[in-house]
Amino acid sequence: MDVGSSTEGLRNNAVSRVNLRARGVTIHYWVERANAAFLAVDGIDVDIQEGEFVAILGPSGCGKTTFINAVSGTQAISGGSLTLDGKSIEGPGPDRAMVFQQASLLPWRSVRDNVLFGAQMQRRLGREESARRADHLIKLVGLGGFEKAYPSELSGGMQQRVNLARALATNPRMLLLDEPFAALDAQTRELMQDELLRVWEEEKTTALFITHDIKEAVFLADRVIVFSARPGRIKREVQVDLPRPRGRETRRSDRFREIEDLLHDSIQEEVLAAAKRELARGAA
Ligand SMILES: Nc1ncnc2c1ncn2[C@@H]1O[C@H](COP(=O)(O)OP(=O)(O)OP(=O)(O)O)[C@@H](O)[C@H]1O
Ligand SMILES: [Mg+2]
Repeated sequence: MDVGSSTEGLRNNAVSRVNLRARGVTIHYWVERANAAFLAVDGIDVDIQEGEFVAILGPSGCGKTTFINAVSGTQAISGGSLTLDGKSIEGPGPDRAMVFQQASLLPWRSVRDNVLFGAQMQRRLGREESARRADHLIKLVGLGGFEKAYPSELSGGMQQRVNLARALATNPRMLLLDEPFAALDAQTRELMQDELLRVWEEEKTTALFITHDIKEAVFLADRVIVFSARPGRIKREVQVDLPRPRGRETRRSDRFREIEDLLHDSIQEEVLAAAKRELARGAA
């Protein structure tokens, strides 16, 4: 079977519904210094199904963060359309929650109060339900017993667990993760990947996950999208047909390595092409 042709890994396949739809999404930055618009993302077309886990890989500076920021509503698009559940994304909303690379916890609030913070701000869930959900999520991410601890008392991995619980506390339709584990050591990172999948399996939230780490993308996702070098375009999409639940065996399987190699070649090609373009620009 050709890599990328299977849809086996996709959950809810029979009744799949589009959650996020991007059509011709183009994003420019205005660069004051050059008095010119700079094209960062160019014509992204993608549908993400409800409950699907999609990873985006691509060389540094290719527009991954720019794109996910547009989905979160903090970055305006300059062309095309971007809809969530059929509604145009015009700004941030309670239906999306973001997890960043650096845990952005409030240092003066306990773990429990940090997790409750988003839900309290939004007032979407009642006080009791928010509290119940916060307690459940803290246990789900493996921090039971640390409810009263402060962020400074936690390791990097634990802080990212709190971040994840906080993002889920508002019960979002879509979880947006921009290199959430990039600052963690290799062992903690693998552990966090296992935990994230466990949480995702239980919560069934659609997930869009950005990473530089090919293994991480293959391990987590139903589908991996490779962005081209700047400006970001979709270079390739690969369906990850590895069975779930995934664990140690998944990482060691031949199929895992096959998909990893394929993605590696695709990204390598892109990095080389970008380097050549830069050299040509320098020589001109
Ligand atoms: N506020 C800004 N103003 C002008 N240009 C910007 C701005 N933010 C990002 N860019 C440029 O847009 C391009 C895409 O940036 P972006 O941060 O989306 O890349 P990325 O793929 O997330 O990179 P990385 O993998 O390093 O995080 C880059 O070339 C960057 O220099
Ligand atoms: Mg980025």
